[in-house]
Amino acid sequence: IQAEKGGYKHFMLKEIFEQGRSIRETTLSRISLDSAKVFLSEMQITEEEFRSATKINIAACGTSWHAAIAGKFMIERLARVPVEVDYASEYRYRDPIADPHALGLLISQSGETADTLAAQREMMAKGSKTVAICNVVGAALAREAQGTIYTHAGPEIGVASTKAFTAQLVAVFLFALHLAQVRGSVTEDESRHLLEELIALPGKVRDVLRSCDAECERLARVYSSVTDFLFLGRGIHYPMALEGALKLKEISYIHAEGYPAGEMKHGPNALIDEKLPVVVVATKDPKDAGSCLRYEKTLSNIQEVTARSGKVIAVAVHGDEDIAQVADEVIYVPAAPELLLPVLDVLPLQLLAYHIAVRRGCDVDQPRNLAKSVTVE
Ligand code: G6P
Repeated sequence: IQAEKGGYKHFMLKEIFEQGRSIRETTLSRISLDSAKVFLSEMQITEEEFRSATKINIAACGTSWHAAIAGKFMIERLARVPVEVDYASEYRYRDPIADPHALGLLISQSGETADTLAAQREMMAKGSKTVAICNVVGAALAREAQGTIYTHAGPEIGVASTKAFTAQLVAVFLFALHLAQVRGSVTEDESRHLLEELIALPGKVRDVLRSCDAECERLARVYSSVTDFLFLGRGIHYPMALEGALKLKEISYIHAEGYPAGEMKHGPNALIDEKLPVVVVATKDPKDAGSCLRYEKTLSNIQEVTARSGKVIAVAVHGDEDIAQVADEVIYVPAAPELLLPVLDVLPLQLLAYHIAVRRGCDVDQPRNLAKSVTVE
């Protein structure tokens, strides 16, 4: 087993450090820079069906559900198709409205999660074709789907998902860009720019992992004995806040909540005191006006937390000097287009959860009461 961990203390840490490679593998065979196109093979869904889709329904569980929410932002922004995201465990109980022109998208590392399979069946029964984003080749979800985008992350052993998650973010981004290209909602120049950025992503991932690991270990020493954590983000960074909170609670057993930053005033503000660490995902794409506007709002949320003596750990992009004025701690990542930033946002959150759990003496690869895949309802 020690050999399988490749010199790392835990599978989870090894898998965190494999993310540059898994993102590259998930991307490379599917894009061409010459034509600036995304190619999705293994699709029994025609371009015409992609063009006439009225809606995308996404269902998933756990960490994969966070990739689904990020996917909503990507698909709506690039392809301008409305997206609905459901917990797979809820989908069939709300008697979803049939629409044969809606496409289903199921996201699952294992491709065997019972609730996700049931959601897929429900979508198909209502007349939709479905696409699976899945990591395990030949899994039930992929066998049932009319198209599969495999995340080439390789086997994931740690129960808490890391490299499969970032590969899912890339896979759903490719799906969004493909849909946008087929529907003519992106120009060739925009596509080329995004694909170049996607190609640059694995290098940035490696940089973040290298530069943040020691910093997250230091923060773990300061914060490992607290009882609660809050994670905040806005827009596409909000699902990353949810994921940061989930990672922490799964493996360290610290109570953690992820919240959209703007919702703080409707409840969580009441929890803030000098004992509460608040992790704020505050990255931005300096070239994107919408991203900068969202960032400004997040910055004022940080000030609201510090004004109430909360401790803020911010994730921000290199060169952001404003954030250091307001946050107690800042973890820096490189800039990237807004829709790709989540891949970088989540890396320090994974490392922070990992180091806190290790300091608390938890079994990070096999947390109590949790299973790698849940094949019963
Ligand atoms: C379990 C795992 C999680 C995972 C979730 C969904 O709860 O512990 O890590 O996110 O199932 O699994 P799936 O295989 O469908 O992505």
